[in-house]
Amino acid sequence: MLEIIILSLHFFVCFLISVVIWCGSKDMDLCSSSKGAVEMEPDAPVYVGKEDDIKKSQRITTKVNDREVVIFYHEGKFYAMDACCYHAGGPLRLGEIEDINGQPCIICPWHKYKITLETGEGLYQAINPMEPSPTPRWRSKGVKQRIHKVTIDNGNVYVSPPDLSVSLASDYYADKCKNNGDFTMEK
Ligand code: FES
Repeated sequence: MLEIIILSLHFFVCFLISVVIWCGSKDMDLCSSSKGAVEMEPDAPVYVGKEDDIKKSQRITTKVNDREVVIFYHEGKFYAMDACCYHAGGPLRLGEIEDINGQPCIICPWHKYKITLETGEGLYQAINPMEPSPTPRWRSKGVKQRIHKVTIDNGNVYVSPPDLSVSLASDYYADKCKNNGDFTMEK
């Protein structure tokens, strides 16, 4: 009889230990998944409009995580960048798009700075006086305007919030332009 009681106690203790271990692992899972959600949320792509609507209007301005962004549809591709020019905050949404040196560029309406849609580089022309017959050539100032990743999913267009670990010239005006303008379909 004593043996049966000891055996029963043994099984009961084993059962309790199993329950404690199972609950602990569940808590850890819940804990890690909720932490992940909190970290992921700020980086989640932001819905900015219907693919067909933006194709039709060719450009829109909107806010992505409180930052004014302009989205262009040009020759079959979507591009997104900070809406205020890195030079002095000009409204890039009103600029013309030109092909310069094989790259589509937005021309700022204020002082005609050229910015590549793909990379946000500022372009300028320069000559090399050492050349026998100096001719102006396009050169890059480096990335000046912050661009944003665009993704299309099931007819919807999303823009990813920027990685702000590296600062760019356009960040200064991105802050200043936060509360300016009305963000409606244009052109
Ligand atoms: Fe854009 Fe000066 S503000 S070129």
